[in-house]
Amino acid sequence: MPNMQKKKILIYNILFVIIGGGLLLFLLRAPAESTARMPYDDNHARFYDMGKKEAEKFCESCHSPEGEMALPAEHPPKYRCLFCHKKVEKNGS
Ligand code: HEC
Ligand code: HEC
Repeated sequence: MPNMQKKKILIYNILFVIIGGGLLLFLLRAPAESTARMPYDDNHARFYDMGKKEAEKFCESCHSPEGEMALPAEHPPKYRCLFCHKKVEKNGS
């Protein structure tokens, strides 16, 4: 009988890890996937061949309060633009 008990506890632990892991993945993925992607157009094409950190130095030349494409006032903390605004898939659309 104590053996059955051990098995039960093991199963509960495994379930807990799976559900917890699934939740964590969901939470980590959800915001990034719904955020607007960086367009692939004349303004942004050159950033597609750069490293992320390299490219992010240029974003605020346009996306600053004085720039031509200011961020919305309720924009979240904005260092590391490309962590949230992913590149669009180049072959696909
Ligand atoms: C030369 C000016 C310029 C630079 C530099 C620039 N952008 Fe933009 N960006 C624009 C303009 C103009 C728009 C709006 C029109 C469009 O979609 O291109 C825009 C739109 C966007 C959008 C919104 C797309 C949407 O669906 O609403 C995102 C996200 C974005 N840029 C991210 C970035 C990131 C990240 C960088 C730095 C790697 C960057 N931009 C650098 C001019 C610029
Ligand atoms: C923590 C995540 C995060 C970071 C970092 C971030 N953004 Fe955003 N950004 C968002 C969200 C969320 C929105 C509003 C909803 C949406 O666009 O889907 C937004 C909106 C925008 C928009 C307007 C899009 C539109 O359609 O109106 C632009 C342009 C933009 N961000 C550019 C940038 C730039 C440039 C940087 C770096 C300086 C940056 N973002 C960093 C999450 C982020």
